[in-house]
Amino acid sequence: MNQIETLLTERHLPELLRLVDGRPVTRENWEERRAELVDILCREVYGYAPSAPHHVTVTEQKCKKKDYAGKGTTRELILSFPTDKGEFSFPVVEVIPTDGTKVPMFVMVNFRPDVPDRYLPVEEILDAGCGVIRIYYNDIAFDGEDGFAGGLAAMYDREKYTWGKIRMWAFAASRVMDYLQTTDYADKERIAVVGHSRLGKTALLTAATDSRFAMACANCSGCTGDAISRNKAGESVKAINQKFPYWFCDTYKQYGDREEEMPFDQHFLVAAIAPRRVALGSAVEDIWADPDSQYLSACAASPAWELFGQKGFVHPDRLPKVGDRLDAGDLAFHLREGTHFFSRADWHRYLCLI
Ligand code: GCU
Repeated sequence: MNQIETLLTERHLPELLRLVDGRPVTRENWEERRAELVDILCREVYGYAPSAPHHVTVTEQKCKKKDYAGKGTTRELILSFPTDKGEFSFPVVEVIPTDGTKVPMFVMVNFRPDVPDRYLPVEEILDAGCGVIRIYYNDIAFDGEDGFAGGLAAMYDREKYTWGKIRMWAFAASRVMDYLQTTDYADKERIAVVGHSRLGKTALLTAATDSRFAMACANCSGCTGDAISRNKAGESVKAINQKFPYWFCDTYKQYGDREEEMPFDQHFLVAAIAPRRVALGSAVEDIWADPDSQYLSACAASPAWELFGQKGFVHPDRLPKVGDRLDAGDLAFHLREGTHFFSRADWHRYLCLI
């Protein structure tokens, strides 16, 4: 066994390429397995969401042409859709290049409403020939303990849906995708979802649950994002549930200190996006997220791409080193210098890969 195989064996991961009924997974039944993976993750970790509304309506609030030195058009929009308890609306800001061509788009769920923002370098995105739509996550569901009494949570019965806030933020990203389907400027084959940290977890879940996304860019997503939980350094399943119980469904709480009993691990989440593209970003000082466990998750998820004759995660037989940019396959990973942050260095990677 080579080094990575040994390290993966030591993590005792649940098998990715076997259906619950025991059949081996092939290219032909991958969609069936993928549906199982998403179902396991919703049942055990993120909770179940309502089904998609049949329409989303858009109202333009403001439009600024010739923004960003003339290179971009900024529009402030309100998106609305019907829920079990009436209409739910949330604002988004979109910035697209002014030249009128079809462009790749990033749907970004962010921590602050500002556009640009220190995590959202709009001018560089435009210069790369891309557009962006940002969702401010607190407009969807407050990132704190509120008994699920406000925002999107309050629009559906808690008895019926077990979703935690990460699932709610992901649901909103899908509503932005609904809207993008109706535009003439978005290149429908190149729409990525992007986020950092808790919102990197959200980006992975969005792409796993919505196959219209061609790519997920998960920056420093760590625990219950891209990182394998079994024998993980830094944040544990117990710690994340204690501090952020409202991110997940109640079922997930039982696995604190009992990771080995989980019928899944986070490579299921990464693999559930296959055969579409995934870019994982990590930072060498982000030991809370644990870059080695993020990397091993990519190694363990890679066979899902290989089913299709695609290269999944192309990596050397060693753990990651700072400066690694491993992007020869459809599952890319980088480890940059520095701390937990959504840095320009991360964006430059995602802009190259979209
Ligand atoms: C905390 C949390 C992480 C999360 C991070 C963030 O550190 O423990 O799981 O990723 O916040 O969202 O910045």
